[in-house]
Amino acid sequence: MSKAKNPFLKCEKVTKRFGGITALSELEFEIKKKETLGIIGPNGAGKTTLFNVLSGVHKPDSGTIKLKGEEITGKEPYQIARKGIGRTFQSLRLFSNLNVLENVMSGTIFTDPIRKETDQAEELLRKLGIEKVELIGQKMPQDLPTDKKRVIELARVLVRKPKILLLDEFMAGLNPKETDKALQMLKKIKKKENLTMALIEHNIRAIMNIAERVFVLHSGRKLEEGPPKEIKNSEKVKEVYLGE
Ligand SMILES: Nc1ncnc2c1ncn2[C@@H]1O[C@H](COP(=O)(O)OP(=O)(O)OP(=O)(O)O)[C@@H](O)[C@H]1O
Ligand SMILES: [Mg+2]
Repeated sequence: MSKAKNPFLKCEKVTKRFGGITALSELEFEIKKKETLGIIGPNGAGKTTLFNVLSGVHKPDSGTIKLKGEEITGKEPYQIARKGIGRTFQSLRLFSNLNVLENVMSGTIFTDPIRKETDQAEELLRKLGIEKVELIGQKMPQDLPTDKKRVIELARVLVRKPKILLLDEFMAGLNPKETDKALQMLKKIKKKENLTMALIEHNIRAIMNIAERVFVLHSGRKLEEGPPKEIKNSEKVKEVYLGE
């Protein structure tokens, strides 16, 4: 195995329960350095819970999480963010009392002394394909369409310069044209910033377009993993989706 493909982020036997529900069950999972990993699975499969334990939002009941070989299990979200793991949320979490540029800069709160200058936010938004930043920057996020809101949330994560980016249903609520634009933008930013990327998606077409490897989660366990083409034709995967 080439060095570039060593595990970057790894779960070993990770279990997470919520009362009587086992959201993750002794899960073995890894993201390789520089790869684009797609994560799919039916509703309630444990996809978001996986990102929540990786980013420190939830502490696993058992098992270990390692980043480049270093154990990070149970660390606080801000400690994990400082180590280079950035994530977005399935439901947008922009601050409605801050304008667009302030929202982007709020991403630096836990890493640097709060930076007031917004040039960096403007530059980042331009890089992410937002035109007319001078007009949009002063707007409140709730006045913008979903695709723009998603880009702003992404910029808020990227402003911390993460090494690995976890995107939870970035394409949700986007139409096919917006989805294609988002895919191009993500590919570009991944290359430019030298990122490792994992995307949870229900949009299979999008996953097939961007992912180099696909991991299928079902009932908190790995159902299947492999190249997108193989996953698309997997009987096990078809069964799980048709049975939904
Ligand atoms: N904070 C929580 N409290 C209680 N139960 C939870 C919590 N978070 C997740 N669960 C439960 O854990 C299971 C996995 O949920 P999770 O949100 O990880 O699924 P998902 O694969 O992201 O689903 P979706 O595709 O609908 O987003 C579900 O049964 C869910 O109800
Ligand atoms: Mg989810």
